[in-house]
Amino acid sequence: MNIITDKTRTIIEEEEKYTSFTTRVPYYPLVVSKAKGVKVIDIEGNEFIDFLSSAAVINTGHNHPAIVEAIKKQLDSFIHYTPAYMYHKPHTELTKKLIEITPGDFEKRVAFSLSGGGSVDGAIKAARKYTKRHRIISFFKAYHGASIGALSVSGYSTAMREGMGPLLEDVTFIPYPDSYRPQFNEELIKNSDACLDYLQNLFDTVLPANEVAAVILEPMQGDAGILLPPQEFYDRLLKMCREHNILIIADEVQTGFGRTGKMFACEHYNLEPDLIVLGKAIASGMPLSAIVGRKEILEAWSAPAHFINTAGNPISCVAALETIKVIEEEKLAENAEKQGELIKDFFNKIKRKYDCIGDVRGTGLLIGVDIIKDPISKERDQVKTAKICWRCWENGLILAFFASNVLRIAPPLVINEEDVMKALHIIENAISDVQNGLIPDSVLEEIKGW
Ligand SMILES: Cc1ncc(COP(=O)(O)O)c(C=O)c1O
Repeated sequence: MNIITDKTRTIIEEEEKYTSFTTRVPYYPLVVSKAKGVKVIDIEGNEFIDFLSSAAVINTGHNHPAIVEAIKKQLDSFIHYTPAYMYHKPHTELTKKLIEITPGDFEKRVAFSLSGGGSVDGAIKAARKYTKRHRIISFFKAYHGASIGALSVSGYSTAMREGMGPLLEDVTFIPYPDSYRPQFNEELIKNSDACLDYLQNLFDTVLPANEVAAVILEPMQGDAGILLPPQEFYDRLLKMCREHNILIIADEVQTGFGRTGKMFACEHYNLEPDLIVLGKAIASGMPLSAIVGRKEILEAWSAPAHFINTAGNPISCVAALETIKVIEEEKLAENAEKQGELIKDFFNKIKRKYDCIGDVRGTGLLIGVDIIKDPISKERDQVKTAKICWRCWENGLILAFFASNVLRIAPPLVINEEDVMKALHIIENAISDVQNGLIPDSVLEEIKGW
């Protein structure tokens, strides 16, 4: 069990006094002191296995020595000179590398930003400018970021949008196929087909397809609680988009860089989007995001339409180059797939013992465990979910949740079987303690979650 003293409480009190609370979704009182590989140590000296990877940012493990070395070397040369005015080699090398590794056998260009949301904004601008159309199609429960454009195409919750309007007005949301809580039909393929019937119906009635610039999608929805559409969904969506010259923007901010068992989630579906948005894990925690896409689209806008002074800074670029090298050389996507299978097997086995485990889904190390009130209603159990995460933290595991009731299993991709098993046993004990009523309701005052 963790020890928490005034050292931790003082920092948290000060944070609460001076930081805007909208910038944080609180989980538990953990003040990070050090992190290495899959371990995080707080300022009290408590050690945790990290099953969150700083929200799927630290795919290469905390402070990977090769990445630290690359950053230090760059620091000794120069910290920044804006690529908005001058040139530097890490920037050039990274653009070439991103073009090489992203799906799409066509000429590409790259544009950098600093956050996933910033690059989503850029992709929307580029798509509108190129197509000379203004409408965007997105999906209910999608999360694309908090900048005003990204927020406009996010269908995560009204709480995020309330009072922010007018947002981008020409965004239409459609259902994203959910295999566990199907919107239209119990059968996976029929359900996904019905989601696209919904879109077709819009095209036939209220939404002129020739006014639509792009469909923005997460190839696998992340914050919605890990939803994976069937292949047929993308086959038909692609056909519909091609028929009406609508671009596809794939947001791989969460799914990219080996997380799903392949470098990019689009590769699971042979999907070659016109624009791909990258972020989070791209530079192992250094601020960087990018749009990689068809040359003609990313050359249709003029400077300074997407001009961001510190984007593509050399430190982030060398960190990204080294991140990609580590993922390739250490075969991290392959490890993600292997450990992910182990994790899913474990939950599928213990599911028989705990009826609060409704569903286990995902691929690689992007896994969701759906915690429910009962198997018939599949009603989301936010209270139980929060308590499980709290107990895990008490016992040395960082575990978060999203979609109010889905345990978010996303460790660094360098994790080995021993740490996976340790973490899984902490989770099973936590589930058992929660089922046995051992976690007081008072913890719900602290843990809010996503
Ligand atoms: C799929 C997806 N897109 C975009 C974002 C936003 O990224 P950022 O917080 O860097 O703006 C996120 C963040 O969670 C995400 O999961």
